[in-house]
Amino acid sequence: MRNSTMVLATAAALLGAALAGAGVVVYSGVYDVSATSQHLQPVYSLLETTMHRSVRWRARHIATPPLDDAGRLVRGAALFRDHCVQCHGAPGVAQADIGKSMQPAPGPLVDAMQRWRPREIYWITRHGIKMSGMPAWQFRLDEEALWDVAAFVQQLPSLSPQAYAQATAKADAAPGRAQAVAPNYTGDAERGRLALAMHACQACHTIPGITSSSPNVGPPLQGLAGRSLIAGKLANTQDNLVLWIRQPKIVKPLTAMPDMGVREGDARDMAAYLATLR
Ligand code: HEC
Ligand code: HEC
Repeated sequence: MRNSTMVLATAAALLGAALAGAGVVVYSGVYDVSATSQHLQPVYSLLETTMHRSVRWRARHIATPPLDDAGRLVRGAALFRDHCVQCHGAPGVAQADIGKSMQPAPGPLVDAMQRWRPREIYWITRHGIKMSGMPAWQFRLDEEALWDVAAFVQQLPSLSPQAYAQATAKADAAPGRAQAVAPNYTGDAERGRLALAMHACQACHTIPGITSSSPNVGPPLQGLAGRSLIAGKLANTQDNLVLWIRQPKIVKPLTAMPDMGVREGDARDMAAYLATLR
């Protein structure tokens, strides 16, 4: 009995000391968040291992479509050139300044196949990597395009700088993303919540259910469903909300709300979520 009390007391003391230590690190400002200071090697290795395990686990049930199709590789080359090279570089091509200045630095993907299966490349491209600067492409590239790019990354190790230059010179501009929307589609609120976050609406608006720094650039969207007007102008209907989200300048030419390039289906999903904010 006395032994177990001792053990508990020691564990509680250690936990208290650890929490106090963490508190000092957080509040004193001693931790250097600058991108000019590198992670210590053990910290970096810990973060990388966490990331690797997480990707492996989450991608484990994804079925991989055939990837050696010639059309896929042509499309993948264009997508890679237009969306990935700026940060990752390519055979014979350096990253742009933005990629060189990030911490952790995004590496050339020529050796990615040594670490990742194609389904994991697909997963990383679709979802991005939190706190690293690797963007999520789910709302920018459709499913086929995500696989096209994963197929191309898989080919990278076999491409000489000349072969890379040829493959990307042939390819037209990467195709835009079409989205078919049924005329009576009323939107999916849960998808809409993700769509709002993936269009960075929370950069300007405080939106219940979306983590943010509580910005005040645009009005808070809490209680939007109960307002009679949108932006003081339009009757608050779903169609009008979709119009406002997609083309605010048509409604109010001088508004500070930018055109965010939201596609119709995504806007309908956003409107469905905003309609739940009472
Ligand atoms: C804005 C910069 C940026 C862009 C654009 C970008 N990435 Fe990344 N990417 C990163 C960063 C940062 C990492 C994380 C590096 C780390 O943790 O070591 C990363 C990691 C990755 C990884 C894991 C790399 C590895 O070697 O383990 C893959 C795969 C990847 N990106 C694919 C892509 C693809 C495909 C595209 C284009 C559709 C792309 N990235 C566009 C910044 C970017
Ligand atoms: C750069 C900042 C900025 C971004 C990003 C932004 N907004 Fe706005 N938004 C504003 C401003 C400013 C207003 C007020 C506009 C006005 O009344 O002219 C506004 C108004 C609104 C309104 C009307 C609110 C009300 O109380 O009537 C809605 C709804 C809205 N935004 C949704 C969105 C959605 C959805 C996104 C993401 C696709 C988004 N906004 C992205 C700045 C932004």
